[in-house]
Amino acid sequence: MKVRIMDTTLRDGHQSLMATRLKTEDMLPLCADLDKVGFHSLEVWGGATFDSALRFLNEDPWERLRALRRALPNSKLQMLFRGQNVLGYRHYADDVVSEFVRLSLKNGIDIIRVFDALNDMRNIESSVKAIKKWGGHAEGAIVYTVSPLHTTEHFVETARAMVEMGVDSLCIKDMAGIISPHVAFTLVSRLKQEFNLPLSMHSHYSSGMASMAYLKAVEAGVDVIDTALSPLALGTSQPCTESMLAALKGTPYDPELDTVLLAKISTELKKRKDKYPEGKNAYYGVDPHVLASHIPGGMMTNFVSQLGAHADKLPQVIEEVPRVRADLGYPPLVTPSSQIVGSQAVLNVLSGERYKMVSNEVKNYLAGHYGRAPGHIAEAFRKKIIGDTPVIDVRPADLIAPELAGARQEVAPYLEQEEDVLTYVLFPPVALKFLKERQAAKYGVDFNLAENAAKEGYPA
Ligand code: CO
Repeated sequence: MKVRIMDTTLRDGHQSLMATRLKTEDMLPLCADLDKVGFHSLEVWGGATFDSALRFLNEDPWERLRALRRALPNSKLQMLFRGQNVLGYRHYADDVVSEFVRLSLKNGIDIIRVFDALNDMRNIESSVKAIKKWGGHAEGAIVYTVSPLHTTEHFVETARAMVEMGVDSLCIKDMAGIISPHVAFTLVSRLKQEFNLPLSMHSHYSSGMASMAYLKAVEAGVDVIDTALSPLALGTSQPCTESMLAALKGTPYDPELDTVLLAKISTELKKRKDKYPEGKNAYYGVDPHVLASHIPGGMMTNFVSQLGAHADKLPQVIEEVPRVRADLGYPPLVTPSSQIVGSQAVLNVLSGERYKMVSNEVKNYLAGHYGRAPGHIAEAFRKKIIGDTPVIDVRPADLIAPELAGARQEVAPYLEQEEDVLTYVLFPPVALKFLKERQAAKYGVDFNLAENAAKEGYPA
């Protein structure tokens, strides 16, 4: 049976290799050809693209989505969604989740791949419900990691919970790129045996195993593999589309895509990518740490910037990560748990004493505000960090009041589209700056003279 390809170039590809900096203007010229290839889908939105477009590129992420939708009329567009974390780093209220899903679909997304960093399936319930309600394809992703708790059974039960919720397809999401070929074979075989649903395999090349894992996944019956075009493949990104096609040629799995067309797109993409310092300096090698530490590529990059002048402490931080992870009940390392574990490991090393300083995120995590930890957390440890703060065991979003109406009021003067409210809820200061500047640029004047005058000390 033919395997199908999801192209990740315009989302995970540039997110993994060039800090999500590819601008829409460098995506659009590739689209006419990308649209002709016959991919299963193209992942073009979600993940870090929303934050990055707004924060670093001064682009409206919604406008990008609409532009891509127009430029790719024949393709299915896919996005990565962090369940109750939407595209941000905390839990949002259910009204935010539902509205975000509605507008993502309205602006052009077909398939929403949803996951929860802890595989706490209560945290994707309202996302899946919203995707079904608003007519999208819900893909449930199992977050893959290696720990004493993350057995094949754990992953199968995670998948079962999603199947019971009514997802349309499943995905194995190996964000650190640590799934081995034989584990991929076993896991895909089990999931295909248990559930009568299409299954995708998503891995990263970080440890150098991903294309071997894909081949075994294909042999075990996986339906879709996620790859990126050569200029944005390998390293911490996905396996390379061109190589996977060559490897599958002459087998019953051959996706039979037009390799001449793909070569043309890759040539153009390489030219455009090399204009960016982040793109030109992208590292394509195998990260030797990841095999032992299971630390995803993105976390390593963060450590280097967090440590700054203390770069010599990096080896200690890498050793501290698995210890913090064990203390916290083995959360998989994916946004936002990767940031929670990573920053605490840095604090533990820099302060010279473990948990002398504790981030608010770790406190909230220990109080249950991100959901259920996969494993056991020692009571003494929890007490030491959060004292008698009550630990919640309900779905965290049950405690969050609706957020949309209040947010709409706060940004009312700057609204040009209903999407702006969501942009603001997700990233308040960044969004406000963006919305204000957009308005000023559009009308050539700043309407908030009174506010500015007050700030600058003039009578208002
Ligand atoms: Co990924």
